[in-house]
Amino acid sequence: MNFNKIFFGTKLLVAGLLAISFAAHAQETVTSKAAKLTQFTPGTIWPDNKGVHINAHGGGMLYQKGTYYWFGEHKIAGGAGNRAMVGVHCYSSKDLYNWKDEGIALAVSPDTTSDIAKGCILERPKVVYNKKTKKYVMWFHLELLGQGYKAARAGLAISDKATGPYTFVKSYRPNAGFMPIYPPGTPDNEKVDCANPKNKSEGFFCRDVPGGQMARDMNVFVDDDGKAYHIFSAEENFTLDIAELNDDYTGHTGKFTRVYAGHQTEAPAIFKHNGTYYLIGSGTTGWAPNPARWFSAPSIWGPWTYHGNPCVGTGSEITFGGQSTYVLPVVGKKDAFIFMADKWTPKDAIDGRYLWLPIVFKGNDIEIDWLDKWDLSAFKK
Ligand code: DGJ
Repeated sequence: MNFNKIFFGTKLLVAGLLAISFAAHAQETVTSKAAKLTQFTPGTIWPDNKGVHINAHGGGMLYQKGTYYWFGEHKIAGGAGNRAMVGVHCYSSKDLYNWKDEGIALAVSPDTTSDIAKGCILERPKVVYNKKTKKYVMWFHLELLGQGYKAARAGLAISDKATGPYTFVKSYRPNAGFMPIYPPGTPDNEKVDCANPKNKSEGFFCRDVPGGQMARDMNVFVDDDGKAYHIFSAEENFTLDIAELNDDYTGHTGKFTRVYAGHQTEAPAIFKHNGTYYLIGSGTTGWAPNPARWFSAPSIWGPWTYHGNPCVGTGSEITFGGQSTYVLPVVGKKDAFIFMADKWTPKDAIDGRYLWLPIVFKGNDIEIDWLDKWDLSAFKK
């Protein structure tokens, strides 16, 4: 028996099989990169145009001329990814399923004295377009390097192009020196009197009047009349503030209202449907999920009515493992709003998943139910 021949023959066979398997694998990778997505599969890996899981956590959307832009926190692997090591990532899409990587829209700074120094906490970026100045305006929640969640500032960056690059402008606590406004008819004894704060959250509010209100989890909403509002967790998260932005969207006017004061609410996402304002938020349990809550109001200034949890079915008591970040109106479809949530993975931040689910209107009420997969045909035209 010629052992050499058998040995080499076997080697050739193994090499051949390996080559075939590599080729098949390479084919698979190429195909999956190129494959067009036609549905949403909440909670699964969501590949971008390069086949890489989308990296835009705590995100928000901007729609312009047939294109959606998705801005979110770029996370890195491990626990370090809970801090901003890279910046804000931007993606674009025409169909909401397939996303093109547009790169880093706002980069953190290597200068450790910068407000947005690498390693700071930069969360929930939201971009709006200002028609008057023709600028793209990005607001975000900023925590200064090495200070945990103490600074609680609103950060601002601006660009001439949707995809950036954005230039950092300033960060601060909004509405220093101002008192809130109230829905008409609010009795005087329900208004904050800083000579005599009635409870914990009013105490935090009054403490922060001179230096400005804390601004953590946030969103920006542009109304039909072009007025923009910044909504954020203030008073150690005990209250949501809804605050008017100036005409170029680059600062606060001092006009604001306090919503659901005295209850800790995070992750606000606001939208308008048939003239009613809707607000979805969460409780305050760090990265762990908790029940969502929703509110509605006839005016942005309230009165805001609390309605409890909009989620229904299995997993509803923990928002299906996620936390709200944005509600996206689908352009060109009636009554079509997508609830966008993050399923955080703080031990390996980059692996965080996206839960997008359709909002169902039941009269003026809303409901969110879990779906393993769905597409835009879930909405009527
Ligand atoms: C919950 C917030 O919604 C997130 O944006 C983030 O700030 C985490 N808390 C940090 O624990």
